[in-house]
Amino acid sequence: MKNIRIKRGQERRILEGYLWGFSNQIEDSVRDYNPGEVVRLSTRNGKFIGVGYVNPHSLIAVRILHQDDIEINTDFFLSRFGAARQLRQQIYGNEEAVREIYSESDYVPGLIVDRYLDNLVVSFNTAGMETHREAIINALQEVYKPAVIYEKSIGSSRKLEGLDENVGLISGDLPKTESWVQFAGIKLPVDLEKGQKTGLFLDQRLNIETIVPMVAKGKILDAFSYTGVWGLRAAKSGAAAVTFLDSSNWALEQAVKAAKQARLGKVCEVVNSDALQAFKAFAEQKQKFDVIFLDPPSFIRSKSSFKDGYRGYFDINQRAVDLLESGGLLVSCSCSYHMRPESFEELLKNVLRRKERSGRIIYKGRQAPDHPVLPAMPETEYLKCIAIQVD
Ligand SMILES: C[S@@+](CC[C@H](N)C(=O)[O-])C[C@H]1O[C@@H](n2cnc3c(N)ncnc32)[C@H](O)[C@@H]1O
Repeated sequence: MKNIRIKRGQERRILEGYLWGFSNQIEDSVRDYNPGEVVRLSTRNGKFIGVGYVNPHSLIAVRILHQDDIEINTDFFLSRFGAARQLRQQIYGNEEAVREIYSESDYVPGLIVDRYLDNLVVSFNTAGMETHREAIINALQEVYKPAVIYEKSIGSSRKLEGLDENVGLISGDLPKTESWVQFAGIKLPVDLEKGQKTGLFLDQRLNIETIVPMVAKGKILDAFSYTGVWGLRAAKSGAAAVTFLDSSNWALEQAVKAAKQARLGKVCEVVNSDALQAFKAFAEQKQKFDVIFLDPPSFIRSKSSFKDGYRGYFDINQRAVDLLESGGLLVSCSCSYHMRPESFEELLKNVLRRKERSGRIIYKGRQAPDHPVLPAMPETEYLKCIAIQVD
């Protein structure tokens, strides 16, 4: 195993538990290393810091895997997955849909695993995880004994690592009949192949369970609804009417199925459209809502796109406020890490000021506990959910 030294004074954060070393912090060139190669990391004076893997193509040149000088093999992954499983069992017992492994927060940077009953959806997001593919799959088999392992290695993080997308069955047979899981109080269909990202947006569990039953009254718009869990939970808790809005027709078909299954079809309707177009149309028709859920995809994918993304959030939130009855509730979310919680709150304050409306925050939420946060690594905390009553 080769040794890489970090520049003088740059080791402090890593010693405090930060798991990334950026290319400008590394003393020795990693240009000739293989993406994903395991290395020892040391201070400039040669004091051992940890074992990690490098990627010469990425700004994040090194990701730490362990603070001891160990070998990275199946035993390493068995130990990491065992600890991750134990935490999920402690917090979620027999839940049917759980994020079992959340990358850096489970000390396996670049690996995501969601479980739906006994099926796993796996996402290898870095070259370092790709390098250990076989050991990872063996360890997953041993710890979870899954019926199916399905790979969904997609998205922008792989591009940054110089990797192509990879999607398909790793082991087992795809379920012949549709799979349904209980999530946040609702039975939802899960399609391992067609679902967006790794299936369901499990990070919202706590927010849905906490805020939706409190606000589920009157006419509700579930904007960016995906397969409809927010709106369905609202309908189940007594909302008079729920409109699901999403640009994915497939997602809305799943929402309709789930509404039927829960015998909530009568109060539910769907709008398959771009959200901005639909918001404009609602405004023209003078439609108003008592509650609006706003859970868009990430508008800010990198620091450099902050300005445009901020504008996107501002625009969609001000249009939502326009559609709210006086005294109505806006539940607004952002899953962009670069939109920090204080900026998001500030944005909502500015939206209200622009619209000459006042508001009171009744809830501030974050990602669910199966997406733990490393105190030393702010990047592991990304989801914001603010419920605000607008006068
Ligand atoms: C973060 S997910 C929403 C998750 C959902 N609220 C849940 O908890 O299951 C974002 C959703 O926005 C949809 N979407 C993306 N761009 C859109 C657009 N321009 N207009 C409407 N929907 C859009 C996607 O299809 C996806 O379902």
